[in-house]
Amino acid sequence: MTKAAWLEVNYCLFLHRGRQGGILLRYPEELIDRIAKQTDLVGLVKQYVDLKRVGVSWRGLCPFHAEKTPSFYVHPEKGSFYCFGCGEGGGPFKFLMMINGLSFPDAVRELAGRVSIDLPALSHEKVPTLDGRPLKTVLYEVMDKAQEFYRHNLWADGGKHARQYLTDERGLDPQVIKHFGLGLALDSWDSLLRYLGGLKYSDRTMEAAGLVKPRSSGAKGFYDAFRDRLMIPVADPENRVVALAGRTFGKSDNPDSPKYINSPATDIYIKGRILYGLHQARPHVRAGGLIFLVEGYFDLISLVSAGVKPVAAVMGTALTPYQLSSIRSMAKEVHLVFDSDRAGEEATKRALPLLYNAELNGRVIRLPAGHDPDSFIRQFGPNAFFDLADKAADIADYYVSRLVKSPQTTLTGESYLVSQAAEILAQVPDGAKSQYLRNKLAEKLGISKDHLEIKGGPPKHLGPPPTATRLPTGPDFDPMAARLLKHVITHPESAPTLKPDLKEIWPDDRTKPVFEAIVLQLEQTSVLVPERLRFDDDAQMASLISGASASGRLHDAQESVMLAQNLIIKLKSQYSRKVQKELTQAVREAENAGDQELARRLLAGKLG
Ligand code: UTP
Ligand code: MN
Repeated sequence: MTKAAWLEVNYCLFLHRGRQGGILLRYPEELIDRIAKQTDLVGLVKQYVDLKRVGVSWRGLCPFHAEKTPSFYVHPEKGSFYCFGCGEGGGPFKFLMMINGLSFPDAVRELAGRVSIDLPALSHEKVPTLDGRPLKTVLYEVMDKAQEFYRHNLWADGGKHARQYLTDERGLDPQVIKHFGLGLALDSWDSLLRYLGGLKYSDRTMEAAGLVKPRSSGAKGFYDAFRDRLMIPVADPENRVVALAGRTFGKSDNPDSPKYINSPATDIYIKGRILYGLHQARPHVRAGGLIFLVEGYFDLISLVSAGVKPVAAVMGTALTPYQLSSIRSMAKEVHLVFDSDRAGEEATKRALPLLYNAELNGRVIRLPAGHDPDSFIRQFGPNAFFDLADKAADIADYYVSRLVKSPQTTLTGESYLVSQAAEILAQVPDGAKSQYLRNKLAEKLGISKDHLEIKGGPPKHLGPPPTATRLPTGPDFDPMAARLLKHVITHPESAPTLKPDLKEIWPDDRTKPVFEAIVLQLEQTSVLVPERLRFDDDAQMASLISGASASGRLHDAQESVMLAQNLIIKLKSQYSRKVQKELTQAVREAENAGDQELARRLLAGKLG
């Protein structure tokens, strides 16, 4: 076994110890080594990253952190990758684990399959099973069968009214309907149940896939979750059906039933991870380096049907860092095309820090009032859509224009805007983009841009802030900080998200030493080993750490990084809110004391 492979196995062992408590790896080392050697690492990585050859290695933009100049290298001879930007590195297994959020055994199986090496069964491995087979395998299979059943219904005689709805009311060609695998759930309580039962799938399996529901208490048995609805299959990036959505139509389209019913979260479907339609969009996104993000299923289907191909849908929920990370290797430009309503506007605003953190350029396409992308493209056609896309505003400009909507007459109203501005700035990483946003905000609010700087702590000129007298006296930790620390200790691969500059905004002095110790360890070794965090003289801290490292993992590698990023965003905005509250308080006090001049100067940041 090569040294790199040995290190990797140990690293993975370490990662999994928490979850599986003890012996985990039973694949012979020789076998793992052979799989690694036979894997074409460059070919593997190329499926996710654009690589260019530089001498004996290959280089590209790191998929594990945001960067503009490539510092991610693949060395085919060593069979390893390394990023000089974020320090991530390892072999093929680690790469697959990180990029797809797989466990080590899953990554081994995946690669073994690619190089056609048979693996022995693992005796110690706790692969969750269902009806005696691996759980996930069964779920993928039963979802596939269900989707096939629905599709069959749509094209059978009984599907005429549904086909009519799709063609006449939604303006879709049969070709498009087939391309998206649309289907029909019959107006029946058990047609799917009986069909899948006939294929020998158990009720338990159907329930675990979210396809059937147990009858209400008392009665035995299950019933179909989707009835009398148009069915939309939702695929993962590997084009496996992981969820379904059912839309009302015809007589089921009434105010009493929800417009869409969606699959629940299951073992193969984690909401917030999937972008609808991304699989079909991938080549088009890659080709143009641009993606349109819409809210709804039919928005996407309509755009694609009209010839706008690089598009994916968030499915009505908030955009997540995970979704953005799934497009980062394909596109640098994201055009948000959300509905022209209040919810769409909010969703757009909330997307800004996420886009900045993912180092993606965000633009906002604004549709005429009352339109969504579906209605717009059907009424005005693709050229009008592309015209709008050409005029799309930078998301910073959009944000600023939305921020100052009505003239603010009172200073407190104004300080509210300042606090909003500072809060958004607190959530974006430093860089050219945040400078641009800061300048725009300062300009629009008519204040000095230094005033929007929150990094250095509360503005000095405010004097002792009103809350400063309440120094932490008890043993309490800031809950958010403690959560973040616990999270990275349980999921050490997410520790590198803790950047040294967080020190300035760390909310409590109790947990700060832990944070600092982690940062120090990362600087020295680039890997966090929780066991090496020593706080023997602080019993509480020691128990926080040991408690965290003893508790099992809840998330896979990629998800844990996303969650850490989310917690950091929250920490930053919590800090910003605190600073702004202090500012608002000071302004209010000045106003109450009749010192308009002081209030104005406080706001304008011209003191001190
Ligand atoms: P919309 O209400 O904008 O629906 O919700 P839509 O996609 O435009 O659907 P049509 O055009 O009326 O058929 C946007 C997205 O929000 C989610 C769905 O993913 C939908 O596509 N949603 C909406 C639900 O999950 N449930 C609902 O009841 C409504
Ligand atoms: Mn719509």
